[in-house]
Amino acid sequence: MEIVLCRDVLDAASRCADIVEELLQEKPDAVLGLPTGTTPLPFYEELRSRSLSFARVRSFNLDEYIGLPEGHPGSYTAYMARNFDVNACSVCLPDGRAEDLEKAASAYEALIQEAGGIDLQILGIGRNGHIGFNEPGSSLKSRTRVKTLSEPTLKANASDFEGIEPPTMALTMGIGTILEARRIVLLAAGASKAIAVRDMAEGPLSANCPASALQMHEKPVVFVDPEAASQLANTEYYQRSQALQEKLKNA
Ligand code: F6R
Repeated sequence: MEIVLCRDVLDAASRCADIVEELLQEKPDAVLGLPTGTTPLPFYEELRSRSLSFARVRSFNLDEYIGLPEGHPGSYTAYMARNFDVNACSVCLPDGRAEDLEKAASAYEALIQEAGGIDLQILGIGRNGHIGFNEPGSSLKSRTRVKTLSEPTLKANASDFEGIEPPTMALTMGIGTILEARRIVLLAAGASKAIAVRDMAEGPLSANCPASALQMHEKPVVFVDPEAASQLANTEYYQRSQALQEKLKNA
């Protein structure tokens, strides 16, 4: 796992946008896997500030809540409409309002396959180590399915649902689905993510920290701000490796 120690969350967002930009130069019809949440907001802002064409891009979101009223601002569908140019790009999310959720989950997997698989999956991380809504205990081979949200996740996202009964379940890509992406970039910011980042990168591979499954991916890259990196033990190594990698790139 490549750990990149960033100056701050804006630096992380800009490095992540660079990766998207390079990918679109190579492959204008790339397939993206996209996250929601607070952490990627500066990344979406950065993307909007660059003149990139998403006309031929297809994107698949990691997850969507189940059972929210259509158009609810807390839904990830609404989040994408606010933060990503959904008119210029074909944006897909799991159908959290489907009558048959199992069917909707398999249909989502089939759509990803039909698009040729995900070229670049961007992830955030929950304070309990979840990726997508794969909460601790999730099978490391799981596919898109219904997951019950954990207590910490419900608490972290409660402010999005003031005045209504908050959703307690979501349709989420599985860990197996995520690991099939050809490239993976994870963004982590803030002290509340420090333990999860440490467990993901330096802990054992364990369903207790679903993000540790990225240890099984060929080449995941993690952009962390100083607060999220504060519990890492091997920072001296990451710094040295980062400096050498940058030297190699600019040689
Ligand atoms: C959202 C998602 C989640 C978030 C995670 C962190 O699509 O898949 O795994 O990335 O809950 O959320 P923030 O960034 O709000 O702390």
